[in-house]
Amino acid sequence: MRTARFALDPAFTIGEVNPRLFGSFVEHLGRCVYTGIFEPGHPAADSEGLRTDVLELVRELGVTAVRYPGGNFVSGYNWEDSVGPAEERPRRLDLAWRSTESNRFGLGEYIGFLKKIGPQAEPMMAVNLGTRGVAEALALQEYANHPSGTARSDLRIAHGDKDPFGIRLWCLGNEMDGPWQTGHKTAEEYGRLAAETARAMRQIDPDLELVACGSSGQGMPTFAEWEATVLAETYDLVDHISLHAYYEETDGDRDSFLASAVDTESFIENVVATCDHVGARLKSTKRINLSFDEWNVWYQSRPDPHPVEDWQEAPRLLEDVYSVTDAVVFGSLLIALLRHADRVTVACLAQLVNVIAPIMTEPGGPAWRQTTFHPFAQASAYGRGQVLDVRVDSPRYPTRKYGEADLLHATAVRAEDGSVSVFAVNRSQTEPLPLEVALNRMGLTTVVEHSALADADPDAANTLHDQERVTPHPVEGTTLRGGTLSAVLEPLSWNVIRLA
Ligand code: AHR
Repeated sequence: MRTARFALDPAFTIGEVNPRLFGSFVEHLGRCVYTGIFEPGHPAADSEGLRTDVLELVRELGVTAVRYPGGNFVSGYNWEDSVGPAEERPRRLDLAWRSTESNRFGLGEYIGFLKKIGPQAEPMMAVNLGTRGVAEALALQEYANHPSGTARSDLRIAHGDKDPFGIRLWCLGNEMDGPWQTGHKTAEEYGRLAAETARAMRQIDPDLELVACGSSGQGMPTFAEWEATVLAETYDLVDHISLHAYYEETDGDRDSFLASAVDTESFIENVVATCDHVGARLKSTKRINLSFDEWNVWYQSRPDPHPVEDWQEAPRLLEDVYSVTDAVVFGSLLIALLRHADRVTVACLAQLVNVIAPIMTEPGGPAWRQTTFHPFAQASAYGRGQVLDVRVDSPRYPTRKYGEADLLHATAVRAEDGSVSVFAVNRSQTEPLPLEVALNRMGLTTVVEHSALADADPDAANTLHDQERVTPHPVEGTTLRGGTLSAVLEPLSWNVIRLA
């Protein structure tokens, strides 16, 4: 196999990684909340019913912004149902997931959960622009953020939350371009509603950061036109536009699946182009950033292994079990986000627990790490700093969906102390990939660690009965001599090479 190469130089950077790039997502869907993060009576539950075993894993994952409460769920959400004494809260139909919502866990519990994760966790709250509108968004904002002295802020205090929640980052609805969305709208309808909501929310607090809904996928028929229309209405009123993307292997076409990040990168670049086109039309110097607030591998076309009846409470939904192959694609999606850190300033892994998640739990039982847990935890731990401009010269391979794709997908992040972490994926299913990196003026002398996630069985996964089947392992033989890093990337592998 020909050697893949790239060069690093401290003068050539993409941008600073916003910690919010390592965000996640908690939706009232399946068992993400109930028996996921919240399970009163569980042996590991604290006095608030939060599972401390899950909290520990969430901290280890290094999650920052946590989007809540949906997702499709938010388009039927009455925030008022989720506050006040838990036993008095109404049970409601959740139309999005055809489940029953008990509201035992609500807004205050979500803020309490974030506090227990630690200071790195930040709320990212979505308002319902499906079945509701400006007035309800304002009421929620006043309840959550106003210090005191009004009916709604005093109600929060009466509910036991003296301090305002200080929610700075807000999503104006969810996937409003999707016909599946309760209250689905045209781009014109949504653009107007988002603009009016943003304007009103800023009347309370001009410093909020607002995310307008972009497309729920690059393949949507309205893609790009949707963004252009929505931004024409909201350009001066919002800070971010959202992107959502999920990938899965279809028809046994693993080669294309492994190159999924080709789509992610083109999606990002197309949205950036659209934002900047609208900015140019408006003669604006302002730049809209990207909130990639749902991304993951998701086997949407596989029949659900746990068929459930309608209107169950916390049914087993979307409980995908991730293989090594999935983790390699997942790592490549992380690389795509990092490679665009100049414009992708928020990203949320969808979701956090049980529902297409890096963390799994059993009710009354253990919590464990899926294969995808590891790339996220490593990128969050070592991917903070300046992203360096990585232009690879790589052997290529044919894919059905994306034509010729590079076998190597890589990025590198330089921390404040000058140390560098290289994140790299070898997409070859059969061949090791030799890699050489020229380290120009980087002042690097030592390989601290080369860790890889790979397995002789590409379908190996972690399960309840084999929770540690797949974990990253150290790779021997990686060297740094005469300013050149040399490594060999195992077939179908996610790699982290740390240099000091
Ligand atoms: O994350 C699962 C679902 O995917 C979300 O509720 C929705 O926004 C998207 O379609």
